[in-house]
Formats: sequence, C-alpha cells, structure tokens
Amino acid sequence: MQFTSVLRLAALAAMVLSLNLRAAGTDAAAAASPREHLSLDANWKFHLGDDWPDALALDKAGASGGPAAAKFSDAAWRTVNLPHDWVIELPFDPGSDANHGFKPVGPGFPANSIGWYRRTFELPAADAGKRIWLTFDGVFRDATVWVNGWLVKRHEGGYYPFREDITDIVKFGGKNLITVKVDASKFEGWFYEGAGIYRHVWLDKTAPVAIAPDGVFVWSWFAGNTPENNNHMPPFVFVLTHVKNYSSDFAFVTTKSEIFDPNGKFIAKEEKSPQRVPVGNGDKITDATGRMNPGSEQEVSQTLTVHEPILWSPESPKLYKLITTVSVEGKVVDRKETEFGIRTVGFDKDKGFLLNGKHYELYGTCNHQDMAGVGAALPDALQYFRIAKLKEFGCNAYRTSHNPPTPELLDACDRLGMIVMDESRLLGSDSQNLAKWEDQIRRDRNHASVGIWSVCNEEHRQTTPEGGRVGATMQRLVKQLDPTRPVTAAEDVGDIYDGLMGTLEVRGWNYHPGSEMDKYHAEHPDQPNVGTEQASTVCTRGIYADDRARGYVNAYDTRGTQTAERWWSFFADRPWLGGGFIWTGFDYRGEPTPYRWPCINSHFGVLDMCGFPKDNFYYYQSWWTTNIVLHLLPHWNWSGKEGQEIRVDALSNCKSVELFLNGASLGKQAMKPNSKLSWQVKYAPGTLSAKGFDDAGKVIAETKVETTGAPAAVQLTPNRKTINADGEDVAVFTVSVTDAQGRIVPVAGNKINFSIEGMGKILGVGNGDPSCHEPDTFIGQPAAKSIPANRWRWKLAALPADGAPAPEYAAGFDDAAWSQTSSEGDHPQLSAGQTAIFRQHLAVTAEDLAQAGIRLHFGRIDDDGWVFVNGRLVGESHDWEDAPAYDLKKFLHAGDNVVAVAVRNTDGPGGLGLGVNLELAGQAAASPWSRSVFNGLAQVIVQAAQDAGEIKLTASADGLTPATATITAQPCAPRPSVP
Ligand code: GAL
Repeated sequence: MQFTSVLRLAALAAMVLSLNLRAAGTDAAAAASPREHLSLDANWKFHLGDDWPDALALDKAGASGGPAAAKFSDAAWRTVNLPHDWVIELPFDPGSDANHGFKPVGPGFPANSIGWYRRTFELPAADAGKRIWLTFDGVFRDATVWVNGWLVKRHEGGYYPFREDITDIVKFGGKNLITVKVDASKFEGWFYEGAGIYRHVWLDKTAPVAIAPDGVFVWSWFAGNTPENNNHMPPFVFVLTHVKNYSSDFAFVTTKSEIFDPNGKFIAKEEKSPQRVPVGNGDKITDATGRMNPGSEQEVSQTLTVHEPILWSPESPKLYKLITTVSVEGKVVDRKETEFGIRTVGFDKDKGFLLNGKHYELYGTCNHQDMAGVGAALPDALQYFRIAKLKEFGCNAYRTSHNPPTPELLDACDRLGMIVMDESRLLGSDSQNLAKWEDQIRRDRNHASVGIWSVCNEEHRQTTPEGGRVGATMQRLVKQLDPTRPVTAAEDVGDIYDGLMGTLEVRGWNYHPGSEMDKYHAEHPDQPNVGTEQASTVCTRGIYADDRARGYVNAYDTRGTQTAERWWSFFADRPWLGGGFIWTGFDYRGEPTPYRWPCINSHFGVLDMCGFPKDNFYYYQSWWTTNIVLHLLPHWNWSGKEGQEIRVDALSNCKSVELFLNGASLGKQAMKPNSKLSWQVKYAPGTLSAKGFDDAGKVIAETKVETTGAPAAVQLTPNRKTINADGEDVAVFTVSVTDAQGRIVPVAGNKINFSIEGMGKILGVGNGDPSCHEPDTFIGQPAAKSIPANRWRWKLAALPADGAPAPEYAAGFDDAAWSQTSSEGDHPQLSAGQTAIFRQHLAVTAEDLAQAGIRLHFGRIDDDGWVFVNGRLVGESHDWEDAPAYDLKKFLHAGDNVVAVAVRNTDGPGGLGLGVNLELAGQAAASPWSRSVFNGLAQVIVQAAQDAGEIKLTASADGLTPATATITAQPCAPRPSVP
C-alpha cells in the first residue's frame, strides 16, 4: 500500500468524520423524510459451497475477507432473486435423510450445506442522517451477515426473523455490499426445511426519531371479552407505540394514532406526547413534556373508542387501519400503517374456542412451509393461493407447525380469513429462546388472524416439572406482551396433567381422541381444550390400492393414525374440545410415512404438494362447510378388472345417496352426520353416478365418474388470467391430460414439456406424486463456477527484471519448503520495499476448460505484480487498489496448473489479499422444463417479469395435442425496492 494512499485515506476519514459530526446537527432536516420500507429481494449473487472457510476475520473490525470483501469478484456466481431455497435445486439421493425429503443436504453432505449470497446497493448521499435497518424474515439455517466487510450478525436458527441497525457502517452516497454465509449443515426439524435466504429481506430507512421496529401494538377490548355485552359500551382500541430517539439531540415528540374503518372512513384519533422525567443538565432542558433524551425510548399508550365496530372473522375478514404519525416539534418524522381486526378470541372450558364471544368450531389444518416447485421459498402470491385452497374445504384455522411463520402468510390469513395458531420452534426459557419468542410475539401480535399462541410441539420434556416451568415462563411472556390471546402447546400425551399440561392455559391435544380425552376433561373440568394435531391420515391422490414398491397409499383413508371420520366424529360431538387441527392441510416434502424411498414426500395432506385435492377434501367439505357436497371415489378406469368388485365411497352431506352404474341403481343409503357411505360394485366400464337427497327426498345433488378414453390432449388452466408485472407475482397453471372428449384421464402419466414466451418465467413444476424424482426446477442460467485459489506458498525473493522469467514461475518448481499463506482476507504479507514470489496450484478439468470464459480474479496485488501460469506471463498489475483479472483460457491445461505471482511492494504493507478466484462461465443453457402428470395432473408456477405484457405458456407431449394458455402481466406499482 503506497504511503501517499495511506495519507489519502486518513484525509478521507477525517472528512467523513466531519460529515458525520455535521450530520448530527442536521437531524431535523433528515427527519423530514418519511419512512421507507424497501425490498432487497432482487439480484443477489449466489454460490453453493464452503469455499471461503476463513472469510470471517475476528482480529480486526471490518476486515473480513473472501466474499465479505468488496473487491471480491462474484462475476461467476449465479444471479438469484429471493426468496430462494437451494435444496429444491438438488437431486434426490436415496442415501440422504428420509424425513428431510431425501435431499443431499445437512449432516453428511458438507458440499451442499453452505451457501453464499452477495448483493450490492447504493444509498444516496441525501440519506446521511437517517437510520438504516437490514431485516431478514428468515434464513435457513445459521447466517453470518456482513455489511461492507463488517460482521453485523451471527444468527442461529432457521425460522426467526433478525434485524440489524447498520447505519454506522453504510456508505451514504456510495456502493454498499451485503454478504451472507448460510450454513444449513444442521437440521432443525424432522421435515423438509430447505436452505438459503428463503424469506424476504428488507432495507428500512427512518428518521433519527422514529417508531421502533415492530413498535406498534394495537388491540381491541370488549367488556367480558364479548361484543354482545357492549350495547352501551363501545369497544376500546388500545394502541401502544414504541418510539426511539436515535439522534444526538433532545427531541420533543408527539405521537398520533388515527383509525380508519374497513371502508376507509376515518373514525377515531388520539394524540399524545410522552411524559418523561428530565435527566442530564443540557441547556435544552426546559420542559419535560414530550421530550426524549438522545438515545432514549418511550412507549406511548393511547385509548380510542370505536362505535358499532365491524367485527373480523374468517367468514368476514374486515380489517381496520391504524395510522401512526410521529412528529418532532410539529414536523412529521415518521408515519406507519398497521392493519388490524376488531374481534375477540378466547377459550371456554365448556364452549371450546370463542370468536367474538361465541363458540367457534376450529376446522384447522397444520402445515409446513413447503410447496411443489418452490420448496420453502414461497412467493407471497402462493401464500394466498394456499390459504384459498384450504378454505375451499372449509378449513378456517391454520397451525404454523412447528415454527414461526413468514409475515406474508399471516397477511394472507388476515385478508382471506383464517384463525392462526402461531407456534414457536422450541420450548425454552433461556434468554436466547425467550428473545426469539418475544420477537415473534411483537412481530405477529397485530395480525387479526393470530388467535392462539403455541409454545411448542411434542417436546420430550413436556411432562416434567422443568418442562412445566419453562412453559409457564413462555406463557408469562405472552401475557406480558399480548394480553389478548390464549396460550397452548401441541402435547402428545394422554391423560396426564403434569408439566406443561397442567401449566398452560389451554390443554392442547396431539392425537388421543377417545376415553383418555374424556377422562382428562372430567378430571380437569376447568381447563379448556383444543385438538392441536389430529388425524395423520395417509392417502395418495388418485390411488386406490396400496403400492409399497411405488410408495403409494390408497385414498379410501384406511391407514392413518386415525381416519378423518374417526377423529372428526369424536370432536364434532364434543364442543368443549373447540375443534382441532388435522395433520396436514398440504403434503410436504419428507416424512414419507408409511414408506421410505422411493417416496420422498408425506401423504398426510388433504391436498397434495400442488394443492390438488385428494378424496378426503370432500369428506371435510361435507362436514365443515354449508355447501351441498356429493363426491364419488374411485375413478372409473379399471380396464382388466371387469366383473371384479370395487369399493365405491360417497363423500357427501346429503341425507341419503343413491348410486347407479350405467343407469342401474345400486341402492340408496342414509348418511349419518360426519360419516361416509360405501358400496361394493362389480366393475363394468361406463358411468358411475350418484344422486344426493335432502330430508324430504328431493334430489339436491348429482355427480358422475366416467371411464375415459386414452390420453389425447394436454390442457392448461391458469388460476388467474391477470397477474401483476412486479417481478414477484405468480400464476399457477394446472396441466391436465385429457381424452378425446376433454375428460381428465385419471391414470395418465405422460411426460409434458413446457416452454414460455413473453413477460414471465417458469419458477417451478410439480405433480403431487409422492415418489416422483423429476426435478422441480430447471436452472436456465449460464453454468458458472468459481474456484477459490487462496492457499499459496510464498517466499521473500529478489525478482528478475520486470516480467522476465525465473525458475520459480515454472510448473515443476519444488516449493515444498516455502511458507504458506492465505489470500482470503486482508492480511498483507510484505512490508515496505520487500519483493516475493507466491505460488498456487490450480486443478481444472477438461469440462472446466470447455467453458466459454475462464478468468483469474485477484482481490488485490499490492503494489506491483507479474502473473505467470505454468511459467508463461499472463499479465501485470501496477495499482494496489485495482482488483485485476486475467483471461487464462489459453494458458491452462486439464490437470494440475501452477500460478506464480511476483510481487514488489513499494510502500506500506503489501502482498496478495482480498481473495483470488478462478471464474468459469459457460453458455446459457436451454430451458428444458418438463414434468410428468401424475394421475392426469401436474402444475407449473409462472412468475411475472417487471415489464407488462402477455405471458404465453405452451405444454406439449409425444402423441398429444399441445396446449397454449396466455395470461396478462398488467402494469402495476412494484413493491418499493432497493435497485
Ligand atoms: C406428529 C408430529 C408431526 C409429524 C406427525 C406425523 O407427532 O408433531 O410433526 O411428525 O407426527 O404423523
């Protein structure tokens, strides 16, 4: 490093310091800017592999190397948008963990378990003086985060959000770098978890006096916790606003809360300045009213009344809006909108769950965050897609098993109407777990949908006194932060009151419907109950005989822990149970019970991985909705089984059902509530049909299942004709294979090829087959690879004339006696006036050499350098601040190669540093998207680009008439984001 440069740096630092000092005085001007909440999802660079194990520097601040260093080149890394789950991209592997979906990641698969992400962003100079926050909604699993080479966070755990105030280390008016190392070497659950930055990332800017992160809490209160008793007393809406003064000045702060009803009408307002006892002796202290000291925080409590409130419920999910405005001496410095619902939730020992004061049966499903095509990385639109699918069969409650959800799932539940049981990942009252639990509660407590907190699932210590005490501490924290919602846990023991069961407000039941439940209730009549996890039915969509070899379970629902009929009849008869949550709404990867390989995903869902209904969907729809339902199973394509008996079930809520084969009656049967009907039918191709009757014997429903012809055509049906051109929105296309008459062929398995044109791309494909090993994604980006070259041997040595050859540069030279050094970080090897030679072996394959571009990239050669490969001069560098790169294509051969760098250090410290990479970049690969249909159906998830226009998807298959479907990506205001 040249001495003049050191001086230049010092001068710059002094300038920055004086700017910072001035910035403190310009707080008021900066404060005029309102809050910005910006997406950081687009345009990350990604690399899979732990190639920079020494990147983290713990000796000096801001000195981390490898990808954390600004000079590091990520040119050969892939570009990805978040949310991103790299496990979805890996092949299936029978040698890997069954519960995690047979993907080679986690314990035993180090090469696939560490990923690196990098992203740069600019901050305008005008932002100086603002607070800058970086928020990760969820990273699986452990994350190390650097900003501009400074370590800002080491976060453990794959499901909790984390946030850092990065104001001090960002560059205003310049480029900034975020680097994230994600380590998924360790599992956290016993189900597919994915890996990577699989939720959103945000950059928030606020004035120095601002609402703290998650700093608004709004809730409604009714006398007796029921709106009905409130004829003469309107509900109160309480607002708690947490304001922080990050400035170096005293601030005189006013906080205003305004409420708007679901129709957007202003209805109530409250304005308040925080009270504070004066401290310090600055001459600004004249009055305690509303004054906040530098660095202080305040919680402002306000109470508003809302007359004739419009209540929120899953059936009528009406949301109010709170607008919080913070002003400093009359000038607005912050404004935040919070959606909330006016409603009450609770449990009663006899009436079960109460919504708005009345018994409300929970028709719930437990779900993991996992879907066909995308894994754990769900675009927001898929959250809405999934919640809407669950509602189709009457589901009104969602348990976020076994972890905190992403906020967008809760938004979807607020807006579409779904009660959420919001679950923590682990039982624990240690400070770290409590801090995470607190973050979860603070983040989620404004959501109208969140109705119940669950402190854990099936913990092994649940019956111990310690387990009980830990649960009590977690429950106490809930009551401190959110006095409005009940607390339970998913407990999988029977008639046991010890530990958690006797401690938590509501007894949660995982399984055990039967005498144990009744006995427990009789012994503890004052404790409310809820079915936190029930059923665990195992069914494969469209399969009617178990097939162990292929990993399929019949869909008659005969093999679960309990059948749908068994658990639901029990619960439906007992209102004190409050309803329950079935395991599960959707299939998910992993836990392929009752099989293992070749099965790679679970069979528990009412819906498969894509959201296609299994037959149980109609059982629940019959008893959980007021729709008239009549559904027959199985399909009627049983060629070869003519004359053999086949079980036919009717799932219906009609009072009686009559079955017909080819027009001839096979008898009428009465339906008992919460049950289903069965016939044995001798198979003959044709039409199986049914009529459903009401009490009066009137036909109220008809349905039929027909024997179809052979596959003849592909059909494509998008779930939405218009999506937003925001680079995020998705449409879900159903792919079906039909016969010549357009009927879906229920046994078809044709392989379908997809191509897309226009303003969108395919994000993923699926088909709901629990044993399908076809890829969910086809990465169409150029094959690119980055090989780190940071393990050097070196020696102080006199150099020949500039660039002239020397024996030490030759490939065969023996450097075994030389010292070792790493070029990964920022640790100069040389002092002023020294010269040295560095040598490094590079192994490349013939395949590597076939790549279009091969460049050797140096983070820094300080001060002068001559780079040789296998003894031949490749190039030279004479600027220590440069990050030189050299084209090596014609210098390398397959096998071992040697890079030698002669370095002359003129002034200050010098040498090799900030990472050396060999970057290989290939040609853009074709995009060969394909998927077989499973029992006639498959799915394609299409994501809009940021430009409006048409998106045309084409599906074709050998011997079938192809299909094309066009949707429109409409212009829209994209989510505010960081470019
Ligand atoms: C439960 C557990 C779930 C899932 C399920 C499978 O006991 O809570 O996570 O493993 O069993 O039946």
